[in-house]
Amino acid sequence: MVSITSLLTGLLALSSSAVSTAIRRRSITPPEGCPIPTWTVDYFHWFNGSHSLDCIHNQDDINAKGCLCGSNWCEPNPATCNGSMVNVCWTGMPNYQPWGYGPPQTLDIQFADGLTCHDQYIGYRIHDIAHGESNCGYADRGLGRIVAFYGSSDSDSSTGHMDYTLGDGHALKCDNGSSITYSGSVDFELTCTHDADFNATCTAPVFEVPVLSYEWVS
Ligand SMILES: *[C@@H]1O[C@H](CO)[C@@H](O)[C@H](O)[C@H]1NC(C)=O
Ligand SMILES: *[C@@H]1O[C@H](CO)[C@@H](O)[C@H](O)[C@H]1NC(C)=O
Ligand SMILES: *[C@@H]1O[C@H](CO)[C@@H](O)[C@H](O)[C@H]1NC(C)=O
Ligand SMILES: *[C@@H]1O[C@H](CO)[C@@H](O)[C@H](O)[C@H]1NC(C)=O
Repeated sequence: MVSITSLLTGLLALSSSAVSTAIRRRSITPPEGCPIPTWTVDYFHWFNGSHSLDCIHNQDDINAKGCLCGSNWCEPNPATCNGSMVNVCWTGMPNYQPWGYGPPQTLDIQFADGLTCHDQYIGYRIHDIAHGESNCGYADRGLGRIVAFYGSSDSDSSTGHMDYTLGDGHALKCDNGSSITYSGSVDFELTCTHDADFNATCTAPVFEVPVLSYEWVS
């Protein structure tokens, strides 16, 4: 019964959105007596500079040397460097904007329910902006909530993707006392503007992440 209902809902959603580029799916119907969350992204803002340091994907950056002078970066010229030449991607460097690099990447996502996510590039995986898990809800990470974002800032208009896992620690209570948790995902329109230096600022209109599956939590 449940599966027929969700199949029909899925088909309806599919046909009514045939005109739009992205296929918008609706949330599932939760098991009887269970609450279901609504995940609405109110605000989405991603800055990816043309010269933001990228020690994860950019081999040139991984190989690059900088001049560490005191607690700052000086011109990376071995002949004039009055500190020491070091790899800009080594850990423990003063900041993520070595001499000659632009401002670091940032990602901000705000949900209507108050969840606020802020990522600032810091050179390792959990802050690998646009390649999966974001820093969203990092403070209560032990509770298992994960908001992952995938996208590209290279073109003016593209499709971003978001996966939302509520996590066992945020499980909701059903009327009969059972605990339930949810996850969902969505493709959304990503619009990027590029300045004269090709720094990209990407935004998205308000969108909802539909809840697509549930799991019982014991
Ligand atoms: C190194 O040289 C730069 C540029 O000449 C100067 O700004 C900086 O203060 C110097 N740093 C040290 C530690 O002497
Ligand atoms: C854009 O990129 C240039 C070159 O990396 C940088 O100097 C500048 O600060 C950037 N602009 C903004 C608004 O971040
Ligand atoms: C971030 O910007 C750089 C420089 O324009 C670009 O090469 C890279 O593909 C961008 N990253 C993503 C995930 O789009
Ligand atoms: C509560 O209801 C769900 C189905 O709606 C069922 O799977 C679960 O076992 C029930 N829990 C209890 C404690 O009866």
